[in-house]
Amino acid sequence: MIELKGKTAIITGGSRGLGKATAIALAKEGVHVAISGRDEQRLQEAVKELEAYGVKVTYAVFDVGNQAEVQAGIEKIKNTFHQIDILINNAGIAAFGTVEEMPTAQWERIIQVNVLGAYYVAKAIIPFMKAQGSGDIINIASTAGLKGSANSSAYSASKSAVIGFSESLMYEMRKENIRVTTLTPSTIATDMTMSDLKITDGNPEKVLQPEDFAELITDILKFNKRALIANASIFSTNP
Ligand SMILES: NC(=O)c1ccc[n+]([C@@H]2O[C@H](COP(=O)([O-])OP(=O)(O)OC[C@H]3O[C@@H](n4cnc5c(N)ncnc54)[C@H](OP(=O)(O)O)[C@@H]3O)[C@@H](O)[C@H]2O)c1
Repeated sequence: MIELKGKTAIITGGSRGLGKATAIALAKEGVHVAISGRDEQRLQEAVKELEAYGVKVTYAVFDVGNQAEVQAGIEKIKNTFHQIDILINNAGIAAFGTVEEMPTAQWERIIQVNVLGAYYVAKAIIPFMKAQGSGDIINIASTAGLKGSANSSAYSASKSAVIGFSESLMYEMRKENIRVTTLTPSTIATDMTMSDLKITDGNPEKVLQPEDFAELITDILKFNKRALIANASIFSTNP
């Protein structure tokens, strides 16, 4: 087991949902956390909450779908922490609609944010991790990327691409002592699934909660550095 205390992590989309739960779980382990998102006020509120755990906390406002913004945001975080041990490539969007009905601009935006966003952030961080000689990158895909379904073409295509990207990156980075993990969670109770997509009521007795996802991430990060969890899925037992 690796001690996480004193490490530094960047969590994209860390202002709410799965990203915020992960930031809290890592802060509880003594990890210094940098969170990102587009809404500065929401980020500042999350920063206050995270500071209660006694770790260093910072944030950067950037749209992951914009490479220039990503580079500037990662540079700002790097100038604060001077070290980046962990990247949770989590920011993402989802919308459902048939191929016929969904406007092209919306289809393209889902690909831009979910696929190019994950790529831009990883590309900005890899040189720092390589220079350090170690690191962990966890890319958040989805079960929707393992199997298509009616109305999910844009989201499924984006998450399939994240899986392909992440697995390829894993083979490139393992020889640098950088572990890359692909996560394919099923439905978890967040704004995305409860208010945007309306695919779950989020009943905590039955439906996965963000804390369950965060626990999986901290467990993966704690594995001995010789062990790489290449991919993992998490499902509700009996939703
Ligand atoms: N919840 C699930 O059931 C589930 C299952 C499988 C996979 N996932 C994946 O897990 C990730 C997190 O999902 P979630 O359920 O926590 O979603 P969420 O509740 O909607 O939160 C999304 C987070 O990402 C940020 N974000 C969205 N678009 C962004 C952009 N263009 N640039 C920068 N930040 C952006 C949001 O902040 P701002 O709005 O302030 O930018 C927010 O912090 C996503 O990649 C999602 O596809 C979720």
